[in-house]
Amino acid sequence: MRKKIVAGNWKMNMDYNEGLSLFSEVVNMVKDEITGTQTAVICSPFIHLHSLAQLAKGYDKVAIGAQNAHQAESGAYTGEISAKMVKSTGAEFVILGHSERRQYFGETNELLAAKTDTALKNGLKPIFCIGETLDERETEVHFDVIKKQLVEGVFHLSAEQFAQVVLAYEPVWAIGTGKTATAAQAQEVHAFIRNEIANQYNQQVADDTTILYGGSCNPKNAQELFEQGDIDGGLIGGASLKSRDFLDIVKVFN
Ligand code: G3P
Repeated sequence: MRKKIVAGNWKMNMDYNEGLSLFSEVVNMVKDEITGTQTAVICSPFIHLHSLAQLAKGYDKVAIGAQNAHQAESGAYTGEISAKMVKSTGAEFVILGHSERRQYFGETNELLAAKTDTALKNGLKPIFCIGETLDERETEVHFDVIKKQLVEGVFHLSAEQFAQVVLAYEPVWAIGTGKTATAAQAQEVHAFIRNEIANQYNQQVADDTTILYGGSCNPKNAQELFEQGDIDGGLIGGASLKSRDFLDIVKVFN
C-alpha cells in the first residue's frame, strides 16, 4: 500500500523564530486532528531542520525534509550542504529537482540523478519533482518532457532504491500562480507517470509509489485533486505557510 503524504515546501520563507513557531502550530494540530495514516512532511530551509526534527520527535505522522542537498559527499564547496549533513539533523526527506532549482540554478536531469544517488546513499528519501512549462504543455510535448525527467533523473535506480523515492508532479505553470491543474489534467499525468514506472520496473513498484501533486494546491481544491486514483497527496507551497490551511489539506485524507 502506498503512503499518503502532504508535504509543505516553505521555500525561502520564515526566519528561524517564525519557522519554529509555525512548526509548533502544525505539530499541535497534527496531534489533535489527524486520525488517518497520512504523513505530514515539512520541508524547511536548512537553518530550521535540526530544531524541527527535535520538535517532531514522538510524532510519527510528522516528518522533516530539506529542499536541496549537494551531489558530492563532502569537500571544498563553500556554502553548500551535503546529504549527510541533512541526514544528521534528523531530516528524513529531501526535495530534489524542484522547477525553481532547475530554472534558477541550472539543475539538469544529469545533476539531479547524481543528487538522488547521494541522497539515497545517505539514507534520505528524495521527493523528486518533475513537470512541464506552459510552453511545453501548449506545444503538447509535456508527456515527452516528463518521461525524459524520469528516465534521466531516477530510472537508473534499482527497484529497491526507487522504493525510497516519492515523486511530485508540479506543472511549472501552476506553481505560485493560483492557476491549478484541473483534477482531470493532474490525474492524466499521474496515471501516465505510474504507467511509465510499471514499464520500467513492474506493476507492483508502480502501485507502491507515492505520487504527489503540486501547484497552487489549497484547502479548496485539495479534496477534488486527492480523490483522483493516482494522486497520493500534495506538495504545497504558499498554503504551507499558514498552519490552518496546511492542516486542512492534510486532513483531506482523514
Ligand atoms: O513545491 C511546491 C510548489 O512549487 C507549489 O507552490 O505556492 O503553487 O503551492 P504553490
